[in-house]
Amino acid sequence: MCPSEAPHPSPTSPSTTLTREVDRRRTFAIISHPDAGKTTLTEKLLLYGGAIHLAGSVKARRATRQVTSDWMALERERGISVTSSVMQFDYAGFRINLLDTPGHQDFSEDTYRTLVAADSAVMLLDNRKGVEERTRQLFQVCRRRRIPIITFVNKCDRAGEDPLRLIQDVEDDLGVACHPLTWPIFHDGAFVGVYHRQRSEALLFARRDDHGASRPTTTRLPLDSNRLIALLGPAAHSHLRDEIELLDAAGHPFDAAAIAAGQQSPVYYGSALTNFGVEPFLEDFLRFAPPPQPRESAHGPVSPLTPDLSGFVFKIQANMDPKHRDRVAFVRICSGHYTPGSDVTIARTGKKIRLAPPQQFLARERTHGAEAWPGDVVGILDRGLLRIGDTLAVDPQITYHDIPRFPPEHFARVHPADPLRRKHLDNGLRELSEEGAAQVFYADSDIGPTPIVGAVGRLQFDVMVFRLEQEYGAPCRLEPLPHSNPRWVTGPAEAIDRAAAHRNRLRIYVTHGQPLLVFEDAWAARWAEENETDLNFAPTPY
Ligand code: G4P
Repeated sequence: MCPSEAPHPSPTSPSTTLTREVDRRRTFAIISHPDAGKTTLTEKLLLYGGAIHLAGSVKARRATRQVTSDWMALERERGISVTSSVMQFDYAGFRINLLDTPGHQDFSEDTYRTLVAADSAVMLLDNRKGVEERTRQLFQVCRRRRIPIITFVNKCDRAGEDPLRLIQDVEDDLGVACHPLTWPIFHDGAFVGVYHRQRSEALLFARRDDHGASRPTTTRLPLDSNRLIALLGPAAHSHLRDEIELLDAAGHPFDAAAIAAGQQSPVYYGSALTNFGVEPFLEDFLRFAPPPQPRESAHGPVSPLTPDLSGFVFKIQANMDPKHRDRVAFVRICSGHYTPGSDVTIARTGKKIRLAPPQQFLARERTHGAEAWPGDVVGILDRGLLRIGDTLAVDPQITYHDIPRFPPEHFARVHPADPLRRKHLDNGLRELSEEGAAQVFYADSDIGPTPIVGAVGRLQFDVMVFRLEQEYGAPCRLEPLPHSNPRWVTGPAEAIDRAAAHRNRLRIYVTHGQPLLVFEDAWAARWAEENETDLNFAPTPY
């Protein structure tokens, strides 16, 4: 669907309203390595969506967060974002939910889990660096979910990798076919526009004198127009022509079905800083990003058009408001209409809860939204009844598939500051584990089982220590462990004991009893997999 074909509101029956609201929802996340330009691109998308008036405000907000935010005290102390948030804005009749994924030192399991709530992803690459470590990890999560992944090659305003080589690197590294839909145009080494292959036109941009705070002026010209030849000069024009011909002849043909299945990625070139290429990307993005799709449940797929409300919890945020010590469960709506006052069942426990007006999020602000539909994310105040992965539904039969746990990359031994408060500590660890804020394991030792915590990002450790002390009255110290490569093991007990005896492995037991071996590096893990032939090693818990 073209942005201009976005559904228009009209007074209709509830089911037509549901269809219309589902059709216009687009829920996505940006995956990237730190510094690729995610904040800058987010800001430009909000600018085009009219959610902010001047680019620069997201960053300015980041700087003034200490004064304005009511988020966790730790967040304020550090001046960074510990958890993901959701930004909602309208563009060309579409309602867009941009799920923010923390990227820097605040990277955590939440970042992965947020992707489970997205219907598509934008993979943002730095034109000098191509695919980097974080992008690769996040891409794999999206790939497993088979959602469309649209690539934006950023920072084209400064010299980078040759565009052809860059897409080749992406294909080799990630095993995904790339189809460039725009191609960068350079004039005297400067990035001046993009050629849109499907529209067969060059878009030349002229920068306004406001440091990228507003849209650039755009001139549209056919590839062979005399004006384009005159503007670029014959040599640059013929170079562009050759590249387009090469792409047409040797590149992967456009394949909408492969894009929808996440096997082909449409690629756009641009510069979030100068806004060059952002709007053509955004317009096309709305064609490739799907509206909410049927979601798998224990009893088969549930259509978003099912009138009864259903959704699942993909994140729990504790203490967003320190004055009230509340928890907010972030729920991705999968079907129906969120109606305050109606009852939903928590599938895991069979308990019913009554829905309050939904809390919705514009960037860092919590507001009470009037209504919510499939694809939207709402925050529900929780007093400890909900867990990550819980299904909430009017129909008690609906249970969505579990959210996968992601293997920790860091481990630390927990030393209670006060041994007399050990019960508080165990209680806190259990609750943090249920909430998804920590992965908790126990290792045998002379003094009984010692707790060990695992995390995807190191900042999760600081959050754990903070919360164990503040919320559970169990101050503790974490001793980082050198191991980082976990493998969940099955096989005969003697073989597991033998494998665990090797000195660079730490044997740990997950709380529900499945042994885990953690290795110092990937090489040691591979060695064990190849040599301990009696055992099965799984890189993820489930
Ligand atoms: P992140 O959220 O992915 O970590 O990246 P962020 O947007 O903060 O951008 C990281 C740096 O890259 C910033 O520079 C930003 O200005 C720059 N950047 C983003 N997009 C572009 C682009 O299209 N072209 C160029 N040339 N640079 C870009 P900084 O110096 O770290 O910060 P600042 O002083 O500019 O705020």
